Amino acid sequence: LRGDVVSCPDFGSVEIASDHLILAEASEQGGRILAIAPGEREAGVLAKHGLQAGDVQRLKAGQYILPGFVDLHVHAPQYSYGGTATDRPLMEWLEVYTFPREGLHEDEAIALAQGLQLARRLVDNGTTCALFFGSLHLSGCKALATAMHQVGMRALVGLTAMDRNSPDNYCKSAAANIADLRKFIQFIRQLDTDLLEPVITPRFIPTCSKELLQGLGEVAAEAGVPVQSHISESLDEVAFAEHLHPEVNGRDTPLFDEAGLLTQRCVMAHAVWLEDDELRVLADRGSAIAHCPLSNFFFADKLLRVKHCRSLGVKVGLGTDIAGGYSPSMLNAMRNAVIASKALRMQAIIHKHSKGQEPKAKDREAEIDIDADLIGWKEALWLATQGGAEALGLQDSIGQLQVGKQLDALLVDCTKADTFDIYPADTSLDRLEKFATVGDDRNISGVWIKGRRVK
Ligand code: GUN
Ligand code: FE
Repeated sequence: LRGDVVSCPDFGSVEIASDHLILAEASEQGGRILAIAPGEREAGVLAKHGLQAGDVQRLKAGQYILPGFVDLHVHAPQYSYGGTATDRPLMEWLEVYTFPREGLHEDEAIALAQGLQLARRLVDNGTTCALFFGSLHLSGCKALATAMHQVGMRALVGLTAMDRNSPDNYCKSAAANIADLRKFIQFIRQLDTDLLEPVITPRFIPTCSKELLQGLGEVAAEAGVPVQSHISESLDEVAFAEHLHPEVNGRDTPLFDEAGLLTQRCVMAHAVWLEDDELRVLADRGSAIAHCPLSNFFFADKLLRVKHCRSLGVKVGLGTDIAGGYSPSMLNAMRNAVIASKALRMQAIIHKHSKGQEPKAKDREAEIDIDADLIGWKEALWLATQGGAEALGLQDSIGQLQVGKQLDALLVDCTKADTFDIYPADTSLDRLEKFATVGDDRNISGVWIKGRRVK
């Protein structure tokens, strides 16, 4: 490919290397990026690799090559009701909509068909790698992994574990959860692909006994498999955890930690109600947060302070949280992350100017910085790419377009008049910002995963 190559070298910085050549291996050879060079060096690079000018796909002005998006939190068996069921708090929502709908995924045909539909939709929207919660069933999760394999997505797939506080027909014993998990890990490993990984997936504290958490932690250590769950997501979830576990004041962190589940490759969704000392535990263990801003607006009752989490050393990436978040697009997750940070700024302003209240001494001293939590589209793009790769421990293979990493990339086309207007004076960076703020899947005209074109 030859054209303008976009990178996010750091949180908040975006660079466009204009007119560069990217050369990658075919997927079967490993899909690695072999060379990135200024366009004027094309002839030399091609000669070195035995290629000709005709082998190069040439981009126009206003088209860009971007790293693919990494979605850190998707519930595959909830895709069918995304966009509906937006009317209840979390714990009721799970009972009324989620458990019955996920229950249908015991049927492999349903799980496969919906898995394929979801994978295609995600790829269409530029997601090249996703961390999935499947259903409770071994059958449905095998079918989900098979769907991802067929589409060629980079997918980390979790068999959701639960042994309490769910309907009898959507629950199983701790021992059955562990036995199925072992079978699931074996199933994925025999597929012989490095695009798929199994994930240890306790749903969340309210549905997992200590015995189950302990067992899952043992498998995590023994099989070296990544972990995911939900942590301190909403007021009703925190209240339920308090009722179940007064011995730890209802805090999720020590329960996961005692079971050995906070690993270097652990991604915890939401985390909005974590105290600073808990965030420090996550940072110390190398665990990450999947920031799901759209879903947080509906369930969480609080906004995640991304910069604050990062300042304590916690890794953060972005998730759609289908169906708690109704949009499957990471572009929308990016926008909602920016909007959530704007809402934090409003909160800070209200706090600073609240009348009739003696300002806390601490605030008077520090003079609240109302912009402290603000992020913009550049930070959001980093979170959606490199942030996700780091959270998954995959930063050596994806997240950025660099020699030696695998080609997970998007061809973004900002020249389409039917998507958004291009003002003649727009700079290259302006057009890219328009894609980040008002673009959609129509502007994503090519997607590669591990060097293979999937759109
Ligand atoms: N907590 C436990 N299960 C779920 C779920 O399916 N979605 C969300 N958003 N939170 C959860
Ligand atoms: Fe979730």
